[in-house]
Amino acid sequence: MSLQNNHNRQNWNQDWEFTKLWNAETGKPEFPEEKSNLVEFPHSNAALPYHYFTETEYSFRSGYRKKFIAEQAWEGKEVLLTIEAAAHVIEVFLNGQKLGSHEGGYTAYTLSLNDNLLLGQENELIFQVDSREELNIPPFGNVIDYMTYGGIYRNVYLEIKEKVWIADVYARAIPINIEEKDTEGQYPGRVESTVTLGSRETGDLPEGYTIRQKLAATSSDSTVESGKIFAGKFQSDKSLNGELVQKVTVKVNELKMTAPGIRLWSIDAPCLYILQTALYDGDTLMDEKETVIGFRRAEFQADGFYLNGEKIKIRGLNRHQSYPYVGYAMPEGVQAEDAVILKKELRVNAVRTSHYPQSQGFLDACDRLGLLVFTEIPGWQHIGDEAWKETACRQTEEMVLQYRNHPSIILWGVRINESQDDDDFYRKTNAIAHQLDPTRPTGGVRFLKKSHLLEDVYTYNDFVHTGRNQGADPKKEVTSDLSKAYLISEYNGHMFPTKAFDDEAHRTEHTLRHARVMDAYYGQEDIAGGFGWCMFDYNTHKDFGSGDAICYHGVMDMFRNPKQAAYVYASQEEGEAVLEISSAMNIGEYPGGAIGAVYAYTNADAVRMYKNNKFVKEFYPDRKEFPHLPHPPIKLDDFVGELLETQEGYERKKAEAIKEVLFAVAKYGQNSLPLLYKMKMLKLMLFQGMTFAEGMRLYYHYIGNWGGNVTTYRFEAVKSGRVVKSVLKEPVTKKVLQAIPGSPRLQKGNSYEAVSVRLRMTDQNGNLLPYYQEPLVLKVRGPVQLIGPAVISLKGGMGGTYLRTIGESGDIVLRVEGNDIEPVEVVIKVE
Ligand code: GAL
Repeated sequence: MSLQNNHNRQNWNQDWEFTKLWNAETGKPEFPEEKSNLVEFPHSNAALPYHYFTETEYSFRSGYRKKFIAEQAWEGKEVLLTIEAAAHVIEVFLNGQKLGSHEGGYTAYTLSLNDNLLLGQENELIFQVDSREELNIPPFGNVIDYMTYGGIYRNVYLEIKEKVWIADVYARAIPINIEEKDTEGQYPGRVESTVTLGSRETGDLPEGYTIRQKLAATSSDSTVESGKIFAGKFQSDKSLNGELVQKVTVKVNELKMTAPGIRLWSIDAPCLYILQTALYDGDTLMDEKETVIGFRRAEFQADGFYLNGEKIKIRGLNRHQSYPYVGYAMPEGVQAEDAVILKKELRVNAVRTSHYPQSQGFLDACDRLGLLVFTEIPGWQHIGDEAWKETACRQTEEMVLQYRNHPSIILWGVRINESQDDDDFYRKTNAIAHQLDPTRPTGGVRFLKKSHLLEDVYTYNDFVHTGRNQGADPKKEVTSDLSKAYLISEYNGHMFPTKAFDDEAHRTEHTLRHARVMDAYYGQEDIAGGFGWCMFDYNTHKDFGSGDAICYHGVMDMFRNPKQAAYVYASQEEGEAVLEISSAMNIGEYPGGAIGAVYAYTNADAVRMYKNNKFVKEFYPDRKEFPHLPHPPIKLDDFVGELLETQEGYERKKAEAIKEVLFAVAKYGQNSLPLLYKMKMLKLMLFQGMTFAEGMRLYYHYIGNWGGNVTTYRFEAVKSGRVVKSVLKEPVTKKVLQAIPGSPRLQKGNSYEAVSVRLRMTDQNGNLLPYYQEPLVLKVRGPVQLIGPAVISLKGGMGGTYLRTIGESGDIVLRVEGNDIEPVEVVIKVE
């Protein structure tokens, strides 16, 4: 938010000429005569296929050009241009003169256009963008397990400032004493802020200049009127001595809150405030800036993470910022959708922005939703030469300066993900982060145990779990300093890639592996928590993934549709009932027709199973395998339950004995039955009058139902004695397409807007049809464009698309048609 809500901001995302023609001799882009190819930011330098492509599609140099009239009214003012993200090096030319350049595709770049601006005339602004992966800057230099994409993929805006302006406000929102809650649930708090002014002049701040601040409520505190002023008024008296932007620091006095006090920012109630900073010359307003802040105390201690004094287990996922077809170039609204999915669908409390700083729009959403964030500098395993390291240091500086007001950020990652120790280098990145933001700890993600710990938190990718062993290593085996906190920054991922269209047993094992690792870190008090790898599948380089340029490591697919593993995260949280059954209950899906155990992922107390409407059994959370999880999966391993008693009339003891043998036959096969079970079978036949034929009948009727009549199963989640959710599995009689828009309406944002529509084929009961892969045709009406192809096929029964606005309001309609289904229409209002 430090980049937003500025005085006199004009979005400058529209009407850019774009060219891929590069003249190697002049080292310049060539623009065709006619303004033929106009684009809008966020822009991807290449339209990409869903899969099977390489980095050559986007790894090249390109040019963007804009011709504009500089208004006469800008005379005497400062004209500042901000490019929020240019992947990966940008050089800016105004009327043929180079004004500056910026290295690094993940942080914003601000420069002044004044130096060669022609007032009252046409000016030509050119961006030369280098998106080649051969660049000698992070994250490049070796292989990387993600596509790095190219283009100007975030917003560009212009600000017209007076000759002195507010370049930055760094606000520390401090709850003075979190033990001192008053009867209204409010606390005494204080804001300290450092205001940085920009100016071309050096010397003293001109006589009469003052900075005034106010703290106002936002609508996130429903108990006070939005905009209500809490505290305000102080005057600065420091001098100016800078050159251009960000040279003068005016340290602001402490601003004391007055009654009724402040509310804390927390995971459940992320209360936000706005710090309004205004620069005055006498009574004339020169500049103002709004900074959104939240009061919270976030601490990593040797035994874990504490938010506002309360110990919280971090349960998070890693997130890339990429999308099918456009790479990074999605507007803030779609980026923010991911925060909503993490918080409300996957119900995690944290996200790691692997492996770079992400969109301000995503971070704003994390602030609003109460999602904890671990963010980090760009990079992947490789450390380059001195020049490369200097760029990494600059990127560390930019990350902290541009993101430090977000209350959601609790940790800075100041190492190149999974790199070797390099003490000189990392001493520098640590010092930069600590100096620019003394309020937050540092971490740095490594795959090394006991490496040099220069940070405050040991953050480690623990991939120890292979399916049958421990879920995570204990802290003492990993960290080099037990007195500092320990956090697992990744797990699973490449250890068990899983496609939405893999067979059921594979998808279930994927889910259980996530459950096992979570259970392991929930069980170890001194592990602050973990971030699973990862939120969704992503396009990657040939050295990784499944050969089709996709890494299938997500708990969701590329369109953010949930795979089975998504539900083991969602079910850990209280609140709205979750019930997902791991199986579609088709024995033909399994070798030998043996389904084995089925799992229910639920936050309820128990699950009741009914077969053909007859009660079978009530099952409880599997605390034996998952002793530490808030809501362990529930193992459904007895599909016979009480049926031998209720349906066949056997008395209890005999029914149990028969079941034991039947289960053993299912498990080992009739011919390889262990001696113990052969004896038990014999006993039943000799002493209890059981015949072999009767045993076979029961087996085929209740277990090995191969070729038998297909059965109906109902599962009910029971909480406090009440059924809170139920799932019905029966033969598919109808295919129903679900189209789920990311939002029912779109409001004008900083750029064109876009919205996702997720598509899922279900049966008549809403169960996913995981092997539906048929084509669908996407048709749009109204002021809208489709992002990506108009004919797609679902994968694993799921898929999606994206719609973008074209600058007009009205209803946009997506119609989805298929061969053997009812068409579906989604209507989204553009306001
Ligand atoms: C880690 C890496 C991630 C991803 C993951 C897959 O080593 O940090 O970017 O590649 O492995 O499991």
